[in-house]
Amino acid sequence: MPKEHHQSKSEKVIHYIKNKISEGEWPIGHKIASQRKLAEELGVNRSTVVAALEQLKEDGLLKGVMGKGTIVINNTWTLLAAMPQPETNEKPKPSLLKLNQSDEAEAFEPDTAEDFIQLSKGELAEDIFPVDNMQQVMMRLAGSLGAFGYEEPKGYLPLREAISAYMKRQGKEVSAESILIVSGALQGIQLISAGLLTRGSSLLLEKPSYLFSMHVFQSAGMTLKGLPMDEDGLIPSSIPKHIDPSVPAIVYTIPSFHNPTGVLMTEKRRKELLDLCASMRLPIIEDDIYRELWIDAPPPPPLASLDENGDVLYVGSLSKTLSPGLRIGWIAGAEPVIERLAEIKRQTDYGSSSLSQRVAAEWMASGLYEEHLSFVRQQLKKRRTAAISMLQTHLGDLAEWDIPSGGFLIWLRLKANRRVKDIHAKAYHAGILLNPGSIYTNEAVQAIRLSYGYASMEDFETGIKKLKQIILDSL
Ligand SMILES: Cc1ncc(COP(=O)(O)O)c(C=O)c1O
Repeated sequence: MPKEHHQSKSEKVIHYIKNKISEGEWPIGHKIASQRKLAEELGVNRSTVVAALEQLKEDGLLKGVMGKGTIVINNTWTLLAAMPQPETNEKPKPSLLKLNQSDEAEAFEPDTAEDFIQLSKGELAEDIFPVDNMQQVMMRLAGSLGAFGYEEPKGYLPLREAISAYMKRQGKEVSAESILIVSGALQGIQLISAGLLTRGSSLLLEKPSYLFSMHVFQSAGMTLKGLPMDEDGLIPSSIPKHIDPSVPAIVYTIPSFHNPTGVLMTEKRRKELLDLCASMRLPIIEDDIYRELWIDAPPPPPLASLDENGDVLYVGSLSKTLSPGLRIGWIAGAEPVIERLAEIKRQTDYGSSSLSQRVAAEWMASGLYEEHLSFVRQQLKKRRTAAISMLQTHLGDLAEWDIPSGGFLIWLRLKANRRVKDIHAKAYHAGILLNPGSIYTNEAVQAIRLSYGYASMEDFETGIKKLKQIILDSL
């Protein structure tokens, strides 16, 4: 029997209103008809309409505003969160998993990477890790430990409060209730995919983009559509032509020190992107995990802080700044959306490690984190200066690149047509790990992603000199 036959009258009203919102007939700020009028229109009792409106307010889709009546307040994430949970028992279709993209890199992922010069690694060098302060934080915590129970579904409250204060400093007012602690940004992306995105919908993202989130989205049955970028970030005007009005779509972006290109999206672009997405009812995932690695000047405010409609789900992490091994990240967004994601997280793993959450809270609430960030920026500045001068000396004739204003990634574009796959293989045999550009996009690219954040600068130079020879030999 069709599902509607089981729907209560109030569910029918809910369905009717959600449809109006999702079809764009009722945009943000739209004042909905009076309860009496709606009841008449839909042929139900007024009390049925009242119950339906209450539910929609709880879901974060409507709000009562003094002197205005009831208005629509969100038409993207909150709407998705108010839909039934997407099927999770359906296995990803093998054809959707384009794992061959990473095979290329993984085939050259050695067991003992220590013997290699790692120009591929997307994390900070061990000598930047704050061992002494970490020991002190751990000792302080050890002195006040109690039993670890399961944490609240959204995570350890003092950590959420510290992140709320941190987000406020970034210009985003978000309460601890609207923050979910996750085991790294990647889990955040997995939860969003599992809980909110529908199979078959389109995922618009920068081309190239971060390898592992592309895999997550593909496994969730999304069709990836690459958006062109320039030195100011992704180009919003390219979005409409990728949209098929009959297929739901969302945008995933890494606006600050993008992986793999290092590009920083300008404030103007950020505004353009937000305006366009608001007008097209496109929800956005903002993956902002490199934000704090600025070298020259703080980046423009996050998209989330410019967003007034709840169109942006913000993903942050401590992996690139403090420690990837802590596995601490967060998602900030509208409360009903966060509640939905928290429930999925509970079903998935009962919450992130209590110990890691306490360590992270201590770093963030004590001011140590901010202090550490200044140190990281100084280190990255030195490393960037050295790396760029080495590149100029050794690869100036063979490649070009933009100087990143933050992060630790350089997108090296080879000037002449060379088989990057062969360069990558030869470099591997010469003891150098590189990430070929092709793993970040489905297009042939003459590019290599280099990291100046991990290897020592002596090793970086040795690696670059060898790379020069390999490129010359591959003519
Ligand atoms: C853009 C981007 N998002 C997410 C991640 C994963 O971060 P986490 O360690 O917090 O899961 C990475 C790691 O390289 C990344 O580059």
